[in-house]
Amino acid sequence: MHTGEQYHKFILNSPRDQAVRDRFQKIALELLPAGTDMLDFGAGTGIDAKAYAASGHVTFVYEPSEAMRGYLAQYCRDEIDRGTVVTVTSPLACKVQGVTANFAVLNYFADHSSLFEELSRVIHHGGFFLASMLNPYYLGDARYHWWRANVMKLMRSGHYAVPSESGIHRFAPRVVARSAAPHFRLERLIPRGFGTATHLYMFLLFRRA
Ligand SMILES: C[S@@+](CC[C@H](N)C(=O)[O-])C[C@H]1O[C@@H](n2cnc3c(N)ncnc32)[C@H](O)[C@@H]1O
Repeated sequence: MHTGEQYHKFILNSPRDQAVRDRFQKIALELLPAGTDMLDFGAGTGIDAKAYAASGHVTFVYEPSEAMRGYLAQYCRDEIDRGTVVTVTSPLACKVQGVTANFAVLNYFADHSSLFEELSRVIHHGGFFLASMLNPYYLGDARYHWWRANVMKLMRSGHYAVPSESGIHRFAPRVVARSAAPHFRLERLIPRGFGTATHLYMFLLFRRA
């Protein structure tokens, strides 16, 4: 089990993860009209929240892990004092234009239906939900037994869990899109085509109907 600080240092020192984070933040910031508020769902140690706040968006942060929250409170101390990062104990405590969930937050869920229902009460009509999830088609994982053992299940049902991976689930995008309806529709999926096999993370952009 990571402490918040271990996670924070590890992920910031990984150039590959940083490149993914940069791409994700750029998309989120392009989607947010100037001065609008947002929620970072599963905010971890506040790395994205700090960046969104620096770009002029009051950023609500929801994070269930005490270890992550503890480090977030240190890392975003100035922003919390200024009220540009606001911690919430439930996503329902805010109403925002956009919600982000970066780095596999949705992979901790076995099913997303109730999450999307909840987020439909948090996001303004026309707003968005942007998530990065582990890409189940990433060929770099084909060297692992658990990946090969689950390929047929993935093709059939679009979902499987690996018990040894501390409750992490893998989903085909279509399964997440189905859970999102009728509140959200999948507007964009990145990557597509050849990139589907070469990217560890996929980005799913949902629009609030
Ligand atoms: C890999 S970390 C990513 C943290 C952060 N989003 C980032 O970009 O660094 C996954 C996060 O999902 C959070 N998480 C796990 N289950 C969750 C749930 N049911 N609701 C919200 N967040 C959850 C974990 O506590 C953890 O902080």
